Amino acid sequence: MTYTSSTVRVPEVAAVPRHIAIIMDGNGRWATQRRLPRVAGHTRGVDAVRAAVEACARRGVEYLTLFAFSSENWRRPNEEVSFLMRLFVTALEREIGKLHANGIRLRVVGDLERFDDKIRDLIKRAETKTARNTRLTLTIAANYGGRWDIMQAARKLVEQAAAGKPVEVNEDAFAEHLSMAYAPEPDLFIRTGGERRVSNFLLWQLAYTEFYFTDTFWPDFDADALGHAIASYTERERRFGRTSAQLEPQSQNVDSLPC
Ligand code: IPE
Ligand code: IPE
Ligand code: MG
Repeated sequence: MTYTSSTVRVPEVAAVPRHIAIIMDGNGRWATQRRLPRVAGHTRGVDAVRAAVEACARRGVEYLTLFAFSSENWRRPNEEVSFLMRLFVTALEREIGKLHANGIRLRVVGDLERFDDKIRDLIKRAETKTARNTRLTLTIAANYGGRWDIMQAARKLVEQAAAGKPVEVNEDAFAEHLSMAYAPEPDLFIRTGGERRVSNFLLWQLAYTEFYFTDTFWPDFDADALGHAIASYTERERRFGRTSAQLEPQSQNVDSLPC
């Protein structure tokens, strides 16, 4: 199992984040600033996705997770929602060959029941085609909500119990049913567009993730901007509840205080 709960075991920390999760926010305001319709910002946002995927692959990031459509985004005007659905389909159709050629594995997480058959079929084909790629796992969160994810995991445990199977209720067993059980918890969370909130993204998995907020709107977020976020991450001290002194290698031999 790839998933290690950071509250059960202290995970290994590398200089480059293994997993980056991004709330790609600010498309609408990017467009409005230019007197363009909001949806023009979404179209430009796809270029920024491409740039982020390339930059992460180059830097050796293993997992990149992008919040594309939240379970609350259905509340937007119908025209914007249908535009986003069409954009998702065209971008996927257009990019999948290139992603595959570059060794990228694609996963889509979220409540896909709400999408029509055409989209679901396209997602399945793209996931199957890229399933064996190992360079970078790109996860698109679509109709995703952190609360939905926790609820669906709980539902699976209840169903197991109802079917008479043995059920353990502990963090590791629970996390195995989360939709991203194939990935480690994010090391770095980035939100563009100036808001400082989680907006129902990966609620469970962000327990010990480092947060980075930038005012840059998503369409302007390029490889350099990603570099700044990673540089900020590299400076942080990830203690996972311990003290700074415990993180110094020599302290492990000197103080043998029980922890
Ligand atoms: C993020 O940009 C994209 C989606 C939520 C699909 P927004 O559309 O939220 O842009 P702002 O926040 O209104 O500027
Ligand atoms: C979060 O952005 C969801 C995505 C980027 C897909 P929103 O723009 O929908 O978030 P709120 O409404 O400002 O919290
Ligand atoms: Mg927004």
